[in-house]
Amino acid sequence: MTRTYGIIGWPLGHTLSPALHNRGFAELGLDARYEAWPLEPDGLPAFIERVRTEPIYGLSVTIPHKRAVMAHLDRISDRALAIGAVNTVYWDGDLLCGENTDVIGVVAPLRGLDPLPRSAVVLGAGGAARAAVAGFLELGIERVAVSNRTRSKAEALAGDFGVKCVDWAGRMDVPWDLVCNTTPLGMSGDLVGETPWDAARFAAGAVAYDIVYNPLRTRFLAEAEAAGCRTVSGLEMFLHQGLAQFRLWTGRDMDEAGARRLLLSLLA
Ligand code: ATR
Repeated sequence: MTRTYGIIGWPLGHTLSPALHNRGFAELGLDARYEAWPLEPDGLPAFIERVRTEPIYGLSVTIPHKRAVMAHLDRISDRALAIGAVNTVYWDGDLLCGENTDVIGVVAPLRGLDPLPRSAVVLGAGGAARAAVAGFLELGIERVAVSNRTRSKAEALAGDFGVKCVDWAGRMDVPWDLVCNTTPLGMSGDLVGETPWDAARFAAGAVAYDIVYNPLRTRFLAEAEAAGCRTVSGLEMFLHQGLAQFRLWTGRDMDEAGARRLLLSLLA
């Protein structure tokens, strides 16, 4: 029987996940398919019941279900508990489990960086910022600071993880050798061409990481690169959170380079 996987979210706009996972299934010859399931918030309990009774083998979970889904699972990873959000549902035997592969996705492109950044500033305080802070701590970055337009949200996040909170006005004044944008500034649409950082405040040799992946080359990354920074595109985070999901569901690895080429072609 064909194994079914899919993404739940509301509203579920265009998503690259079906293309990524269906490519993996085809590459490895697995009898499986990945679908997009728009799901309103109050439909979640009934949907999870379907997951328990139908041949649904895994879910990607996005807004607004990332927190709510936790109440319906049998086991949740420490990582997802620390973040307070699940983006991946998978089966371990007859247990329906939750993981947060956004954290894995944030960290993966930074592994192997030599030297490892020692201090990081995270811009924004939403779900992506939580994943970034958790990931940077997991990676062993010693000093992490969070800055957000609405300070109270940064304070709450900083308190949860025991990191520093910095005023939005002072975000470029803290010591940093990794700066990570998790705000939507620079995203295609009304915010394209905007940036949360002054070009003159990038330092050569530092790392600039954008969670935005559409467009691939944001103003933030272009200016960082021009200033001699190493840059990491949001495409890498998206790719690696997806590769980690695929591994949890199938126990197999899809070809990373092929998957990256596919995403690049879809975003070009
Ligand atoms: P995500 O789940 O992607 O992290 P989110 O939870 O909506 O999305 O968080 C978006 C973050 O970007 C928030 O921290 C938001 O700041 P506020 O808390 O002040 O709303 C930040 N953000 C959104 N638009 C912004 C803008 N124009 N300038 C600066 N920060 C912005």
